[in-house]
Amino acid sequence: MLQCQGCHTPSGAGVADRVPSFVGMLGNFLMVDGGRKFLIQVPGAAQSSLSDKELAQVSNWMLQKFSPAQVPDDFVPYTASEVGQLRQKPLVRVAEVRRKLLELMTEQGVNTAI
Ligand code: HEC
Repeated sequence: MLQCQGCHTPSGAGVADRVPSFVGMLGNFLMVDGGRKFLIQVPGAAQSSLSDKELAQVSNWMLQKFSPAQVPDDFVPYTASEVGQLRQKPLVRVAEVRRKLLELMTEQGVNTAI
């Protein structure tokens, strides 16, 4: 609530044109190459003061809370050690990486029409 909600809002809907919505969308990142790590490496998550364990837990929770229908059946929940490793490699070109992931979703027919 303290670390993420200010931007992402309690409903996960974000802020139009500034903070993307999680709702019905977040799980789609798990369907494309590079998406799993992006969800942790994105600055708001990676650079938060949450511990690795807390960030793993909040990420798993957000996926189920805001985007359960998009989470693949074979999703393996994030662990503290995976999150710890991913956080050591911060994203440099965030917008570009995000745009490429969205393009991959479109190419692969992942439904992003929400
Ligand atoms: C200062 C505002 C801000 C805060 C605080 C913030 N985020 Fe974000 N978040 C963003 C923005 C903006 C994006 C879109 C990518 C980018 O430009 O960083 C984003 C993207 C994301 C994404 C990827 C989803 C997507 O559609 O790009 C995840 C996952 C995420 N944030 C998780 C978190 C978590 C977890 C926290 C709290 C620990 C958090 N964020 C705190 C602004 C914020």
